[in-house]
Amino acid sequence: MAREFTSVGVVGLGTMGAGIVEVFARNNVDVVAVEISEAALERGRANLKGSTDRAVAKGKLAEADRDALHSRVHFQVGLGALHSVDLVIEAVPEHLDLKQRIFAELDRVCKPEAILATNTSSLSVTEISVATTRPNQVIGIHFFNPAPVMKLVEVVRTVVTSADVVADVEALCERLGKVDVTINDRAGFIANALLFGYLNHAVSMFEARYATREDIDAAMKLGCGLPMGPLALMDLIGLDTAYEILDTMYRRGGRDRRHAPVPLIKQMVTAGLLGRKSGRGFYTYERPGSPVVVPDEQTPVASESALADGARGIAKVGVVGSGTMATGIIEVFAKAGYEVVSVTRGAEKSAKVFESVKTSLNKGVVRGKLSEADRDAALGRINWSATLEHLADVDLVVEAVVEELSVKKALFASLDEICKPGVVLATTTSSLPVIDVAMATQRPADVVGLHFFNPAPIMPLVEVVQTIRTSAETTATARAVCAALGKTGVVCGDRSGFIVNALLFPYLNDAVKMLEASYSTADDIDYAMKLGCGYPMGPFELLDVVGLDVSLAIQRELYLELREPGFAPAPLLEHLVTAGYLGRKSGRGFRDHTNR
Ligand SMILES: NC(=O)c1ccc[n+]([C@@H]2O[C@H](COP(=O)([O-])OP(=O)(O)OC[C@H]3O[C@@H](n4cnc5c(N)ncnc54)[C@H](O)[C@@H]3O)[C@@H](O)[C@H]2O)c1
Repeated sequence: MAREFTSVGVVGLGTMGAGIVEVFARNNVDVVAVEISEAALERGRANLKGSTDRAVAKGKLAEADRDALHSRVHFQVGLGALHSVDLVIEAVPEHLDLKQRIFAELDRVCKPEAILATNTSSLSVTEISVATTRPNQVIGIHFFNPAPVMKLVEVVRTVVTSADVVADVEALCERLGKVDVTINDRAGFIANALLFGYLNHAVSMFEARYATREDIDAAMKLGCGLPMGPLALMDLIGLDTAYEILDTMYRRGGRDRRHAPVPLIKQMVTAGLLGRKSGRGFYTYERPGSPVVVPDEQTPVASESALADGARGIAKVGVVGSGTMATGIIEVFAKAGYEVVSVTRGAEKSAKVFESVKTSLNKGVVRGKLSEADRDAALGRINWSATLEHLADVDLVVEAVVEELSVKKALFASLDEICKPGVVLATTTSSLPVIDVAMATQRPADVVGLHFFNPAPIMPLVEVVQTIRTSAETTATARAVCAALGKTGVVCGDRSGFIVNALLFPYLNDAVKMLEASYSTADDIDYAMKLGCGYPMGPFELLDVVGLDVSLAIQRELYLELREPGFAPAPLLEHLVTAGYLGRKSGRGFRDHTNR
């Protein structure tokens, strides 16, 4: 029989604590909510009220249920109020000495059978537990932010946590409507170990002015389907908390440089820019604690005319190539009303591309998204050719041929001869340096990267890659074209992986390393990222879709360009590729897809 939890205590009512109180009170559990002072208690009360009021406003909670929820919460200053609860969850700032002091005190005031849990993200639960005389009743219950919304709970057992305590806590999580993964005590557990290297990397991109905060966040949201971008997530987590988590992970996790907090984070914490809770972090919020972003001096002017500022007019577009990307890009331009010249290596290829574009447009007609007349008009705007000479009068060329530098350079040299002056020359490369193709021409200022995502007609993101030679006019033109295509163009520098791949693939590689170290299973790791962080797919699902060979190639490029030891491809990834397990396309990758 699982233990009954009729009343629980929550210590610390900040970002996490207030949310944890809400989770319990929503599930009919009485809560003693404890803070350090009357003022902090008031803030905690306001946090809880703000969250439940928002739930009522969104129609997710009835007013009567909100009032009942509040009546189950007893706010108190000081740990003494916790003498008769069955379980305590501690959610105070991420400092080992503070948590140890609190656990020693909890051990004195709580009844002997009470379970003492910490919500720490990165500290050792074992080290916290030894501050008590009951380490076998100490456990990690790691909720995700916002606790009332995120389904995942990581249950962290130490080597001394007793099995019945683990089982009781697992049953409790189920009662709370959460999905738990039970794991051993390691820095960052599953989700944070995979998340924080990525967040820190995103901050370093921002610090280096590699891209703006809006563009970094838009890239990850639109390119990967994440619920929020990394900088907005840092603001939600709280920069002080994020700093402590990174610092602990750096020290506990083998001094991986990717966890050494980027200096900007410390500066922002010192300046009081803690994120949402203080009203300002990477973004500015309506008021402290509010999720509503308001414009500030970094907010870009988003009007159409501002986008078109300095941009050249583009009416006719050449697309070179006949693969998946070229086909999608031809469709995107033709559908948006541009006259398109498609250049392939022969009539046979052109016929194939034509069929693919037609099939894809037909799907739009069947789904009611496109009229037959619009389909015919789009197809009518495409001219099919097998010679580059037909690009003599286009305003923009988008190159999407094979990912080989020598081929692309030769093509750009030819374009340089053929195209009229002032034409924007774009490459869709996803891994080669754009500057290399730019320097194959006499007009590097007109060359830019336009990195579309697959499938181009569907994915809303385009990375606009400017080299150190790209002119402002060329970048402005590229951005205006993206906007005219109905896509979000994010501007970034010419570095391996641009924004999305540079942030995504090291995370996927880390997941493989975690699996390789037998810390958890592919299923639990996938769950953790989907249910704890709201990712649309877990890392192993995504790797199988993208292809393990493609992922390995991108990871190798990143490693070679940045020489970051932590980016070295996971040996398991290499072995799977060598074994021919490439993911869905070969029937097997991390999972077997043959019978699915
Ligand atoms: N922020 C996140 O996204 C997140 C997610 C999961 C877990 N966590 C973990 O949760 C814990 C709390 O983080 P947070 O972001 O909620 O921090 P926070 O700074 O928002 O809140 C901490 C609260 O603890 C209170 N406090 C400090 N000392 C206290 C004491 N002696 N007694 C009672 N209350 C005290 C503070 O007044 C404050 O209200 C940390 O261990 C953190 O790693 C955070």
